Amino acid sequence: MSPPCSPLDSAPPTPPPVTREGFRNAMARLGAAVNIVTTDGPGGRHGFTASAVCSVTDSPPTLLVCLNKGSSAAGPVHANGVVCINTLAAGHEPLSNLFGGRTPPEERFAGGAWRVAATGAPMLVGAVVAFDCRVVRTVEVGTHDVLFCEVVGVAEGGSHESLIYYSRRYHTLSGPTDD
Ligand SMILES: Cc1cc2nc3c(=O)[nH]c(=O)nc-3n(C[C@H](O)[C@H](O)[C@H](O)COP(=O)(O)O)c2cc1C
Repeated sequence: MSPPCSPLDSAPPTPPPVTREGFRNAMARLGAAVNIVTTDGPGGRHGFTASAVCSVTDSPPTLLVCLNKGSSAAGPVHANGVVCINTLAAGHEPLSNLFGGRTPPEERFAGGAWRVAATGAPMLVGAVVAFDCRVVRTVEVGTHDVLFCEVVGVAEGGSHESLIYYSRRYHTLSGPTDD
């Protein structure tokens, strides 16, 4: 008769380390709203596409945004200390690609209509919702800066169809129209 198995014998094998590619593939399964994060001020007008946007707390109302330290928008965002987080609507795919590509800032802004929010950051006309923010804290993690953004103004747009990035493609999510 064979001896009973010890817990160690039945333990699963040690999983392989998570590679950069493995992490990216896993993240492709995590759907997210698409936003254009804009800024303006002494560091100049700039903006970038971001899906790494998340609520932190409602007291005080705070969002976080993850910004690649190597992106061309990083310098202006830090110099200005303000951002507007514009959540994209259905049909905004070209604008998302414009702000996510290697185009000069003014070419990016030519793709949409903007007004100036209270902080001075550009607010996208036609966004599902826009959060006007002051950057109150920045934490560096690897390749990215995590920006903690205190929301000083909110504007809700007329669209009820949100742009979602999932499985490396754009999708549209429709919400109720009667609120
Ligand atoms: C759908 C989508 C989501 C993105 N999300 C982020 C993000 O959360 N944070 C970030 O730093 N860059 C994100 N990017 C990439 C930036 O938009 C891109 O690096 C930047 O605009 C271009 O960098 P450049 O100005 O240096 O050319 C995303 C791009 C796309 C298309």
